Amino acid sequence: MTNLVSHAHIPQRDYHCVEKQLEPCGIVIFGASGDLTHRKLIPALLNIYQRGLLADGSFVVGCGRTEMSDEQFRASLAKSLREFGFSDNGPISEMFLKRCHFIAGSYDDPDFYTRMSTRLVELENKYPTCGRRVFYLSIPPSLFPVVVDNLGAARLTTENRAAGQWVRVVVEKPFGHDLESALELDRRLYKVLDEKQIYRIDHYLGKETVQNLLVFRFANAVFEPIWNRNFIDHVQITVAEDVGVGHRAGYYEQSGQLRDMFQNHIMQMLSLVAMEPPSSFDADRVRDEKVKLLRTIRPLPIEDLGGSIVRGQYADGVSGGSQVRAYNQEPDVDPNSSVETYVAAKLWLDNWRWHDVPFYIRSGKRLPRRTSEVAITFKQVPHSMFSGLMAEQMEPNVLVINIQPEEGVSLTFQAKQPGPEVKMVPLTLDFHYRDVYSKGLPEAYERLLMDCVAGDQTLFIRHDEVTVAWGLLTPVLERWAEKRPEDHPFAYPAGSWGPDEADRMLSTDGCRWRLLEGENISR
Ligand code: BG6
Repeated sequence: MTNLVSHAHIPQRDYHCVEKQLEPCGIVIFGASGDLTHRKLIPALLNIYQRGLLADGSFVVGCGRTEMSDEQFRASLAKSLREFGFSDNGPISEMFLKRCHFIAGSYDDPDFYTRMSTRLVELENKYPTCGRRVFYLSIPPSLFPVVVDNLGAARLTTENRAAGQWVRVVVEKPFGHDLESALELDRRLYKVLDEKQIYRIDHYLGKETVQNLLVFRFANAVFEPIWNRNFIDHVQITVAEDVGVGHRAGYYEQSGQLRDMFQNHIMQMLSLVAMEPPSSFDADRVRDEKVKLLRTIRPLPIEDLGGSIVRGQYADGVSGGSQVRAYNQEPDVDPNSSVETYVAAKLWLDNWRWHDVPFYIRSGKRLPRRTSEVAITFKQVPHSMFSGLMAEQMEPNVLVINIQPEEGVSLTFQAKQPGPEVKMVPLTLDFHYRDVYSKGLPEAYERLLMDCVAGDQTLFIRHDEVTVAWGLLTPVLERWAEKRPEDHPFAYPAGSWGPDEADRMLSTDGCRWRLLEGENISR
Protein backbone atom coordinates (compact mmCIF):
# COMPACT_ATOMS: atom_id res chain seq x y z
CA MET A 1 0.00 0.00 0.00
CA THR A 2 1.31 3.46 -0.84
CA ASN A 3 1.94 6.09 1.78
CA LEU A 4 0.42 9.32 0.56
CA VAL A 5 1.73 11.99 2.82
CA SER A 6 4.93 13.96 2.60
CA HIS A 7 5.81 15.17 6.09
CA ALA A 8 8.44 17.72 5.17
CA HIS A 9 6.14 20.68 5.74
CA ILE A 10 4.87 19.63 9.17
CA PRO A 11 6.06 22.10 11.80
CA GLN A 12 7.84 20.58 14.78
CA ARG A 13 6.09 21.02 18.09
CA ASP A 14 7.25 20.90 21.65
CA TYR A 15 4.94 18.96 23.95
CA HIS A 16 6.45 20.41 27.12
CA CYS A 17 5.30 23.98 26.80
CA VAL A 18 1.91 23.87 28.50
CA GLU A 19 2.76 21.87 31.60
CA LYS A 20 2.68 23.32 35.08
CA GLN A 21 5.15 22.65 37.86
CA LEU A 22 3.86 20.15 40.41
CA GLU A 23 3.55 20.84 44.11
CA PRO A 24 6.62 19.67 46.05
CA CYS A 25 6.09 16.28 47.63
CA GLY A 26 7.92 13.27 49.04
CA ILE A 27 7.84 10.11 46.90
CA VAL A 28 8.43 6.89 48.80
CA ILE A 29 9.16 3.87 46.62
CA PHE A 30 8.76 0.39 48.09
CA GLY A 31 10.87 -2.03 46.07
CA ALA A 32 13.56 0.54 45.36
CA SER A 33 16.18 -1.95 44.27
CA GLY A 34 13.79 -3.58 41.80
CA ASP A 35 13.80 -3.46 38.04
CA LEU A 36 10.76 -1.19 37.69
CA THR A 37 12.29 1.44 39.96
CA HIS A 38 15.61 1.48 38.14
CA ARG A 39 14.33 1.04 34.62
CA LYS A 40 11.17 3.18 34.68
CA LEU A 41 10.38 5.12 37.84
CA ILE A 42 13.68 6.88 38.50
CA PRO A 43 14.29 7.75 34.82
CA ALA A 44 10.71 9.09 34.65
CA LEU A 45 11.19 11.20 37.80
CA LEU A 46 14.52 12.49 36.54
CA ASN A 47 12.94 13.45 33.23
CA ILE A 48 10.18 15.33 35.01
CA TYR A 49 12.78 17.02 37.19
CA GLN A 50 14.92 17.97 34.19
CA ARG A 51 11.89 19.53 32.56
CA GLY A 52 11.42 21.68 35.66
CA LEU A 53 8.08 20.05 36.47
CA LEU A 54 9.03 18.23 39.65
CA ALA A 55 9.50 21.02 42.15
CA ASP A 56 12.93 21.44 43.67
CA GLY A 57 11.46 20.98 47.12
CA SER A 58 10.54 17.37 46.32
CA PHE A 59 12.43 14.30 47.50
CA VAL A 60 12.49 10.56 46.91
CA VAL A 61 12.88 7.84 49.54
CA GLY A 62 13.71 4.34 48.35
CA CYS A 63 12.79 1.42 50.60
CA GLY A 64 14.19 -2.06 50.47
CA ARG A 65 15.29 -4.94 52.60
CA THR A 66 19.03 -4.65 51.98
CA GLU A 67 20.89 -2.12 54.14
CA MET A 68 22.24 0.75 52.04
CA SER A 69 23.37 4.28 52.73
CA ASP A 70 21.90 7.22 50.81
CA GLU A 71 25.21 7.43 48.93
CA GLN A 72 25.13 3.78 47.93
CA PHE A 73 21.53 4.12 46.79
CA ARG A 74 22.41 7.17 44.67
CA ALA A 75 25.38 5.35 43.15
CA SER A 76 23.18 2.38 42.21
CA LEU A 77 20.62 4.71 40.61
CA ALA A 78 23.34 6.59 38.71
CA LYS A 79 24.69 3.29 37.41
CA SER A 80 21.26 2.21 36.17
CA LEU A 81 20.61 5.59 34.58
CA ARG A 82 23.82 5.20 32.59
CA GLU A 83 22.91 1.63 31.70
CA PHE A 84 19.47 2.62 30.45
CA GLY A 85 20.87 5.29 28.20
CA PHE A 86 20.61 8.45 30.28
CA SER A 87 23.53 10.38 28.87
CA ASP A 88 23.08 13.44 31.06
CA ASN A 89 24.82 12.71 34.31
CA GLY A 90 25.58 16.41 34.64
CA PRO A 91 24.52 18.91 37.32
CA ILE A 92 20.76 18.39 36.96
CA SER A 93 21.03 14.63 37.44
CA GLU A 94 23.32 15.24 40.39
CA MET A 95 20.85 17.64 41.95
CA PHE A 96 18.10 15.11 41.44
CA LEU A 97 20.12 12.25 42.92
CA LYS A 98 20.95 14.37 45.97
CA ARG A 99 17.24 14.39 46.68
CA CYS A 100 17.15 10.58 46.75
CA HIS A 101 17.42 8.85 50.12
CA PHE A 102 17.17 5.29 51.32
CA ILE A 103 15.72 3.46 54.26
CA ALA A 104 16.09 -0.27 54.82
CA GLY A 105 13.80 -2.58 56.73
CA SER A 106 11.49 -5.51 56.63
CA TYR A 107 8.05 -4.72 55.20
CA ASP A 108 6.26 -6.70 57.90
CA ASP A 109 8.10 -5.05 60.79
CA PRO A 110 6.08 -2.26 62.46
CA ASP A 111 9.35 -0.71 63.67
CA PHE A 112 10.34 -0.10 60.03
CA TYR A 113 7.30 2.15 59.62
CA THR A 114 8.06 4.01 62.85
CA ARG A 115 11.57 4.71 61.57
CA MET A 116 10.14 5.69 58.21
CA SER A 117 7.78 8.12 59.86
CA THR A 118 10.64 9.76 61.78
CA ARG A 119 12.76 9.94 58.62
CA LEU A 120 9.95 11.48 56.61
CA VAL A 121 9.38 14.16 59.23
CA GLU A 122 13.12 14.96 59.18
CA LEU A 123 13.10 15.23 55.40
CA GLU A 124 9.92 17.29 55.47
CA ASN A 125 11.67 19.76 57.74
CA LYS A 126 14.35 20.08 55.09
CA TYR A 127 12.11 20.05 51.99
CA PRO A 128 8.95 22.21 51.94
CA THR A 129 6.53 19.45 50.98
CA CYS A 130 3.86 20.27 53.56
CA GLY A 131 3.63 16.54 54.35
CA ARG A 132 2.41 15.65 50.82
CA ARG A 133 3.40 12.05 50.22
CA VAL A 134 3.17 9.46 47.46
CA PHE A 135 3.79 5.85 48.46
CA TYR A 136 4.60 3.81 45.38
CA LEU A 137 4.18 0.04 45.80
CA SER A 138 6.63 -1.37 43.29
CA ILE A 139 6.61 -4.74 45.06
CA PRO A 140 5.09 -8.20 44.49
CA PRO A 141 1.32 -8.10 44.99
CA SER A 142 1.48 -10.55 47.89
CA LEU A 143 3.14 -7.74 49.88
CA PHE A 144 0.52 -5.04 49.15
CA PRO A 145 -1.72 -5.89 52.12
CA VAL A 146 1.07 -6.05 54.69
CA VAL A 147 2.59 -2.75 53.53
CA VAL A 148 -0.74 -0.98 53.41
CA ASP A 149 -1.80 -2.32 56.83
CA ASN A 150 1.47 -1.11 58.35
CA LEU A 151 1.30 2.29 56.66
CA GLY A 152 -2.15 2.68 58.16
CA ALA A 153 -1.10 1.46 61.62
CA ALA A 154 1.77 3.97 61.65
CA ARG A 155 -0.73 6.68 60.62
CA LEU A 156 1.31 7.33 57.51
CA THR A 157 -1.83 7.32 55.37
CA THR A 158 -3.61 10.00 57.41
CA GLU A 159 -4.34 13.20 55.50
CA ASN A 160 -5.15 16.76 56.41
CA ARG A 161 -6.58 17.96 53.12
CA ALA A 162 -7.78 21.24 54.61
CA ALA A 163 -4.12 22.07 55.32
CA GLY A 164 -3.10 21.09 51.75
CA GLN A 165 -1.54 17.84 52.95
CA TRP A 166 -2.38 14.65 51.09
CA VAL A 167 -1.24 11.02 50.94
CA ARG A 168 -1.57 8.90 47.78
CA VAL A 169 -0.73 5.26 47.30
CA VAL A 170 0.18 3.94 43.85
CA VAL A 171 -0.62 0.27 43.37
CA GLU A 172 1.01 -1.60 40.50
CA LYS A 173 -0.82 -4.40 38.71
CA PRO A 174 -1.76 -7.20 39.10
CA PHE A 175 -4.74 -6.10 41.17
CA GLY A 176 -5.45 -9.60 42.46
CA HIS A 177 -5.35 -12.76 40.37
CA ASP A 178 -9.10 -13.31 40.07
CA LEU A 179 -12.34 -11.66 41.14
CA GLU A 180 -12.25 -12.82 44.75
CA SER A 181 -8.64 -11.81 45.38
CA ALA A 182 -9.25 -8.42 43.73
CA LEU A 183 -12.19 -7.80 46.07
CA GLU A 184 -10.05 -8.89 49.02
CA LEU A 185 -7.30 -6.47 47.97
CA ASP A 186 -9.85 -3.66 47.85
CA ARG A 187 -11.10 -4.57 51.32
CA ARG A 188 -7.54 -4.30 52.66
CA LEU A 189 -6.88 -1.00 50.88
CA TYR A 190 -10.15 0.51 52.09
CA LYS A 191 -9.29 -0.25 55.70
CA VAL A 192 -6.78 2.59 55.65
CA LEU A 193 -7.35 4.53 52.43
CA ASP A 194 -10.25 5.98 50.54
CA GLU A 195 -10.64 5.60 46.78
CA LYS A 196 -9.38 9.15 46.20
CA GLN A 197 -6.03 8.11 47.67
CA ILE A 198 -5.65 4.93 45.60
CA TYR A 199 -3.90 5.18 42.24
CA ARG A 200 -4.10 1.81 40.47
CA ILE A 201 -1.61 2.15 37.70
CA ASP A 202 -1.88 0.61 34.24
CA HIS A 203 1.03 1.97 32.26
CA TYR A 204 -0.87 1.56 28.98
CA LEU A 205 -3.07 4.45 30.04
CA GLY A 206 0.05 6.61 30.28
CA LYS A 207 0.96 5.95 26.65
CA GLU A 208 0.30 9.04 24.56
CA THR A 209 -1.35 7.04 21.80
CA VAL A 210 -3.73 5.34 24.20
CA GLN A 211 -4.72 8.74 25.61
CA ASN A 212 -5.06 9.97 22.07
CA LEU A 213 -7.92 7.51 21.59
CA LEU A 214 -10.02 9.85 23.70
CA VAL A 215 -8.98 12.98 21.85
CA PHE A 216 -9.27 11.34 18.46
CA ARG A 217 -12.79 10.15 19.14
CA PHE A 218 -14.21 13.03 21.12
CA ALA A 219 -12.42 16.13 19.87
CA ASN A 220 -13.16 15.52 16.19
CA ALA A 221 -16.63 15.80 14.79
CA VAL A 222 -16.03 13.48 11.84
CA PHE A 223 -15.43 10.16 13.58
CA GLU A 224 -18.09 9.86 16.24
CA PRO A 225 -21.09 9.78 13.83
CA ILE A 226 -19.60 6.73 12.05
CA TRP A 227 -18.26 5.03 15.19
CA ASN A 228 -20.97 2.39 15.41
CA ARG A 229 -22.54 -0.72 13.94
CA ASN A 230 -23.95 1.16 10.97
CA PHE A 231 -20.50 1.85 9.56
CA ILE A 232 -18.04 -0.42 11.33
CA ASP A 233 -17.69 -4.04 10.31
CA HIS A 234 -15.32 -5.17 13.04
CA VAL A 235 -12.53 -3.99 15.31
CA GLN A 236 -9.16 -5.65 15.90
CA ILE A 237 -6.87 -4.90 18.79
CA THR A 238 -3.36 -6.37 18.69
CA VAL A 239 -0.70 -6.16 21.36
CA ALA A 240 2.29 -8.16 20.14
CA GLU A 241 5.66 -8.55 21.81
CA ASP A 242 8.76 -10.15 20.41
CA VAL A 243 10.27 -10.89 23.82
CA GLY A 244 9.72 -14.12 25.68
CA VAL A 245 9.11 -14.49 29.38
CA GLY A 246 12.72 -13.53 30.18
CA HIS A 247 13.58 -13.69 33.86
CA ARG A 248 9.96 -13.29 34.97
CA ALA A 249 8.93 -16.95 34.92
CA GLY A 250 8.24 -16.96 38.67
CA TYR A 251 5.53 -14.36 38.16
CA TYR A 252 4.38 -15.44 34.71
CA GLU A 253 3.84 -19.10 35.63
CA GLN A 254 1.21 -17.87 38.10
CA SER A 255 -0.21 -15.38 35.68
CA GLY A 256 -0.20 -16.17 31.94
CA GLN A 257 -1.17 -13.81 29.17
CA LEU A 258 -4.85 -13.50 30.06
CA ARG A 259 -4.06 -12.12 33.50
CA ASP A 260 -0.90 -10.29 32.48
CA MET A 261 -2.21 -8.36 29.47
CA PHE A 262 -5.94 -8.92 28.91
CA GLN A 263 -7.38 -8.18 32.32
CA ASN A 264 -5.76 -4.77 32.38
CA HIS A 265 -4.07 -3.24 29.30
CA ILE A 266 -6.35 -4.74 26.69
CA MET A 267 -9.58 -4.20 28.62
CA GLN A 268 -8.54 -0.58 29.10
CA MET A 269 -7.83 -0.07 25.41
CA LEU A 270 -11.08 -1.77 24.46
CA SER A 271 -13.05 0.45 26.81
CA LEU A 272 -11.50 3.62 25.36
CA VAL A 273 -12.19 2.49 21.81
CA ALA A 274 -15.80 1.52 22.42
CA MET A 275 -17.19 3.58 25.32
CA GLU A 276 -19.81 6.30 25.03
CA PRO A 277 -18.64 9.93 25.13
CA PRO A 278 -18.15 11.06 28.74
CA SER A 279 -19.88 14.32 29.65
CA SER A 280 -16.58 15.89 30.74
CA PHE A 281 -12.89 15.12 31.02
CA ASP A 282 -13.28 14.45 34.69
CA ALA A 283 -11.75 11.34 36.24
CA ASP A 284 -15.01 9.87 37.40
CA ARG A 285 -17.03 10.77 34.33
CA VAL A 286 -14.43 9.07 32.08
CA ARG A 287 -14.20 6.05 34.36
CA ASP A 288 -18.01 5.79 34.62
CA GLU A 289 -18.16 5.35 30.86
CA LYS A 290 -15.31 2.85 30.79
CA VAL A 291 -16.92 0.69 33.42
CA LYS A 292 -20.31 0.91 31.67
CA LEU A 293 -18.65 -0.36 28.51
CA LEU A 294 -16.88 -3.21 30.30
CA ARG A 295 -20.26 -4.28 31.70
CA THR A 296 -21.62 -4.66 28.16
CA ILE A 297 -19.10 -7.35 27.21
CA ARG A 298 -21.03 -10.55 26.71
CA PRO A 299 -19.80 -13.34 29.03
CA LEU A 300 -17.75 -15.91 27.16
CA PRO A 301 -19.56 -19.24 26.56
CA ILE A 302 -17.74 -21.35 29.11
CA GLU A 303 -18.88 -24.71 27.74
CA ASP A 304 -17.90 -23.75 24.21
CA LEU A 305 -14.82 -21.60 24.73
CA GLY A 306 -12.93 -22.72 21.62
CA GLY A 307 -14.95 -20.53 19.26
CA SER A 308 -14.38 -17.41 21.36
CA ILE A 309 -10.97 -17.64 22.90
CA VAL A 310 -7.78 -19.36 21.76
CA ARG A 311 -4.78 -19.99 23.99
CA GLY A 312 -1.28 -20.50 22.66
CA GLN A 313 2.15 -21.21 24.08
CA TYR A 314 5.34 -20.51 22.18
CA ALA A 315 7.43 -23.46 21.07
CA ASP A 316 11.04 -23.03 20.03
CA GLY A 317 11.70 -21.00 16.92
CA VAL A 318 13.57 -18.05 15.51
CA SER A 319 13.17 -14.62 17.05
CA GLY A 320 15.19 -11.57 16.06
CA GLY A 321 17.38 -13.76 13.88
CA SER A 322 18.36 -16.14 16.70
CA GLN A 323 17.14 -19.56 17.67
CA VAL A 324 15.17 -19.29 20.91
CA ARG A 325 13.85 -21.89 23.28
CA ALA A 326 10.25 -22.90 23.89
CA TYR A 327 8.35 -21.37 26.81
CA ASN A 328 8.37 -24.66 28.69
CA GLN A 329 12.17 -24.84 28.39
CA GLU A 330 12.71 -21.35 29.84
CA PRO A 331 14.44 -21.18 33.25
CA ASP A 332 12.03 -21.71 36.16
CA VAL A 333 9.17 -22.80 33.90
CA ASP A 334 7.54 -26.16 34.53
CA PRO A 335 8.31 -28.34 31.47
CA ASN A 336 4.65 -29.44 31.52
CA SER A 337 3.38 -25.92 31.98
CA SER A 338 -0.04 -25.19 30.52
CA VAL A 339 0.35 -21.44 30.98
CA GLU A 340 -0.60 -19.45 27.88
CA THR A 341 1.75 -16.93 26.29
CA TYR A 342 -0.79 -15.96 23.63
CA VAL A 343 -4.52 -15.26 23.72
CA ALA A 344 -6.88 -14.38 20.91
CA ALA A 345 -10.51 -13.65 21.70
CA LYS A 346 -13.70 -12.69 19.96
CA LEU A 347 -15.84 -10.39 22.08
CA TRP A 348 -19.32 -9.00 21.59
CA LEU A 349 -20.62 -5.87 23.23
CA ASP A 350 -24.28 -5.98 24.11
CA ASN A 351 -25.43 -2.45 23.46
CA TRP A 352 -27.05 -0.51 20.62
CA ARG A 353 -23.84 1.02 19.33
CA TRP A 354 -21.97 -2.26 18.89
CA HIS A 355 -24.68 -4.85 18.36
CA ASP A 356 -23.29 -7.56 16.02
CA VAL A 357 -19.85 -5.94 15.65
CA PRO A 358 -17.14 -8.43 16.65
CA PHE A 359 -14.09 -7.21 18.53
CA TYR A 360 -11.14 -9.47 17.74
CA ILE A 361 -8.35 -9.17 20.23
CA ARG A 362 -4.94 -10.83 20.33
CA SER A 363 -1.89 -10.50 22.46
CA GLY A 364 1.17 -12.68 22.74
CA LYS A 365 4.82 -13.04 23.53
CA ARG A 366 7.51 -14.19 21.10
CA LEU A 367 5.57 -12.90 18.12
CA PRO A 368 7.68 -11.53 15.26
CA ARG A 369 7.70 -7.91 16.36
CA ARG A 370 6.71 -5.55 19.15
CA THR A 371 3.70 -3.76 17.82
CA SER A 372 0.36 -2.63 19.20
CA GLU A 373 -2.52 -1.23 17.26
CA VAL A 374 -6.26 -0.74 17.11
CA ALA A 375 -7.69 -1.31 13.64
CA ILE A 376 -11.23 -0.29 12.77
CA THR A 377 -12.48 -1.94 9.59
CA PHE A 378 -15.42 -0.15 8.01
CA LYS A 379 -18.20 -1.80 6.07
CA GLN A 380 -18.04 -2.26 2.34
CA VAL A 381 -19.87 0.31 0.25
CA PRO A 382 -23.53 -0.78 0.11
CA HIS A 383 -23.55 -0.89 -3.68
CA SER A 384 -20.49 -0.67 -5.89
CA MET A 385 -20.81 0.89 -9.32
CA PHE A 386 -17.32 -0.52 -10.00
CA SER A 387 -18.09 -4.16 -9.31
CA GLY A 388 -18.20 -5.07 -13.03
CA LEU A 389 -14.77 -3.52 -13.52
CA MET A 390 -12.94 -5.39 -10.81
CA ALA A 391 -12.07 -9.04 -10.47
CA GLU A 392 -11.77 -8.80 -6.70
CA GLN A 393 -13.91 -7.19 -4.07
CA MET A 394 -12.75 -3.71 -3.09
CA GLU A 395 -10.90 -3.54 0.19
CA PRO A 396 -12.85 -1.70 2.89
CA ASN A 397 -11.53 1.43 4.58
CA VAL A 398 -9.40 0.68 7.62
CA LEU A 399 -8.50 3.20 10.27
CA VAL A 400 -5.47 2.15 12.26
CA ILE A 401 -4.37 3.73 15.50
CA ASN A 402 -0.77 2.68 16.02
CA ILE A 403 -0.11 2.53 19.72
CA GLN A 404 3.56 1.55 19.49
CA PRO A 405 6.31 1.56 18.41
CA GLU A 406 5.44 3.69 15.33
CA GLU A 407 2.94 5.90 17.12
CA GLY A 408 0.45 7.40 14.70
CA VAL A 409 -2.82 7.09 12.82
CA SER A 410 -3.47 5.88 9.29
CA LEU A 411 -6.50 5.53 7.06
CA THR A 412 -6.62 3.35 3.96
CA PHE A 413 -8.97 4.21 1.15
CA GLN A 414 -9.51 3.39 -2.49
CA ALA A 415 -8.23 5.76 -5.16
CA LYS A 416 -8.12 5.69 -8.90
CA GLN A 417 -4.89 4.45 -10.33
CA PRO A 418 -3.81 7.03 -12.94
CA GLY A 419 -4.28 5.83 -16.51
CA PRO A 420 -6.94 5.33 -19.14
CA GLU A 421 -8.69 2.47 -17.35
CA VAL A 422 -10.72 2.69 -14.17
CA LYS A 423 -8.49 0.74 -11.83
CA MET A 424 -8.45 1.13 -8.12
CA VAL A 425 -5.59 1.05 -5.71
CA PRO A 426 -5.70 1.17 -1.92
CA LEU A 427 -3.71 4.11 -0.55
CA THR A 428 -2.91 5.17 2.99
CA LEU A 429 -3.08 8.55 4.67
CA ASP A 430 -0.42 8.24 7.31
CA PHE A 431 0.34 10.36 10.35
CA HIS A 432 3.37 9.61 12.51
CA TYR A 433 3.90 11.37 15.83
CA ARG A 434 7.65 11.34 15.27
CA ASP A 435 7.24 13.64 12.26
CA VAL A 436 5.68 16.30 14.45
CA TYR A 437 7.32 15.64 17.79
CA SER A 438 10.86 14.72 16.89
CA LYS A 439 11.96 14.70 20.54
CA GLY A 440 9.92 11.53 20.95
CA LEU A 441 6.94 11.02 23.20
CA PRO A 442 7.15 11.09 26.98
CA GLU A 443 7.34 7.72 28.73
CA ALA A 444 4.08 6.42 30.12
CA TYR A 445 5.40 6.51 33.68
CA GLU A 446 6.23 10.21 33.41
CA ARG A 447 2.65 11.11 32.60
CA LEU A 448 1.26 8.86 35.30
CA LEU A 449 3.63 9.99 38.04
CA MET A 450 2.85 13.60 37.20
CA ASP A 451 -0.88 12.94 37.27
CA CYS A 452 -0.58 11.21 40.62
CA VAL A 453 1.27 14.16 42.16
CA ALA A 454 -1.25 16.51 40.55
CA GLY A 455 -4.11 14.46 42.03
CA ASP A 456 -5.65 13.55 38.66
CA GLN A 457 -7.05 10.01 38.66
CA THR A 458 -8.39 10.03 35.10
CA LEU A 459 -5.66 7.71 33.83
CA PHE A 460 -5.78 5.43 36.85
CA ILE A 461 -8.09 2.47 37.23
CA ARG A 462 -11.05 2.66 39.57
CA HIS A 463 -11.99 -0.34 41.73
CA ASP A 464 -15.12 -1.18 39.70
CA GLU A 465 -13.19 -1.37 36.41
CA VAL A 466 -10.94 -3.97 38.00
CA THR A 467 -13.77 -6.07 39.35
CA VAL A 468 -15.88 -5.96 36.19
CA ALA A 469 -12.87 -7.08 34.11
CA TRP A 470 -12.14 -9.90 36.56
CA GLY A 471 -15.83 -10.81 36.57
CA LEU A 472 -15.61 -11.46 32.84
CA LEU A 473 -12.33 -13.38 32.88
CA THR A 474 -12.52 -15.36 36.13
CA PRO A 475 -14.93 -18.02 34.75
CA VAL A 476 -12.50 -18.59 31.86
CA LEU A 477 -9.57 -18.92 34.25
CA GLU A 478 -11.56 -21.33 36.41
CA ARG A 479 -12.39 -23.45 33.40
CA TRP A 480 -8.74 -23.49 32.29
CA ALA A 481 -7.73 -24.43 35.82
CA GLU A 482 -9.68 -27.68 35.32
CA LYS A 483 -6.92 -28.57 32.82
CA ARG A 484 -9.22 -30.25 30.33
CA PRO A 485 -7.16 -31.57 27.38
CA GLU A 486 -9.10 -29.39 24.92
CA ASP A 487 -8.05 -26.27 26.85
CA HIS A 488 -4.32 -26.95 26.66
CA PRO A 489 -2.65 -24.05 24.81
CA PHE A 490 -1.87 -24.63 21.14
CA ALA A 491 1.84 -24.51 20.34
CA TYR A 492 3.08 -21.82 17.96
CA PRO A 493 6.67 -21.39 16.82
CA ALA A 494 8.49 -18.52 18.51
CA GLY A 495 8.73 -15.73 15.96
CA SER A 496 5.38 -16.59 14.31
CA TRP A 497 2.06 -14.72 14.62
CA GLY A 498 0.48 -17.29 16.92
CA PRO A 499 -1.41 -20.55 16.51
CA ASP A 500 -3.44 -21.35 13.38
CA GLU A 501 -6.50 -21.88 15.57
CA ALA A 502 -6.61 -18.11 16.14
CA ASP A 503 -6.88 -17.64 12.36
CA ARG A 504 -9.64 -20.22 12.19
CA MET A 505 -11.62 -18.40 14.87
CA LEU A 506 -11.85 -15.44 12.49
CA SER A 507 -12.20 -17.36 9.25
CA THR A 508 -15.44 -18.89 10.52
CA ASP A 509 -16.76 -15.30 10.44
CA GLY A 510 -15.39 -14.78 6.92
CA CYS A 511 -12.74 -12.52 8.37
CA ARG A 512 -8.96 -12.59 8.88
CA TRP A 513 -6.43 -10.93 11.09
CA ARG A 514 -5.12 -7.75 9.65
CA LEU A 515 -1.67 -8.20 8.24
CA LEU A 516 0.75 -6.21 10.31
CA GLU A 517 3.71 -4.50 8.73
CA GLY A 518 6.26 -7.09 7.70
CA GLU A 519 3.79 -9.93 8.14
CA ASN A 520 3.84 -12.66 5.55
CA ILE A 521 0.94 -12.57 3.13
CA SER A 522 0.84 -16.38 2.96
CA ARG A 523 -0.29 -16.63 6.56
C1 BG6 B 1 3.47 -5.46 31.47
C2 BG6 B 1 3.43 -6.96 31.43
O1 BG6 B 1 2.38 -4.97 32.16
O2 BG6 B 1 3.47 -4.96 30.14
C3 BG6 B 1 4.60 -7.51 30.63
O3 BG6 B 1 3.49 -7.47 32.74
C4 BG6 B 1 4.64 -6.86 29.27
O4 BG6 B 1 4.53 -8.90 30.51
C5 BG6 B 1 4.57 -5.35 29.37
O5 BG6 B 1 5.86 -7.26 28.65
C6 BG6 B 1 4.43 -4.72 28.00
O6 BG6 B 1 4.54 -3.34 28.12
P1 BG6 B 1 4.97 -2.43 26.89
O7 BG6 B 1 4.85 -1.04 27.40
O8 BG6 B 1 6.37 -2.82 26.55
O9 BG6 B 1 4.02 -2.75 25.78
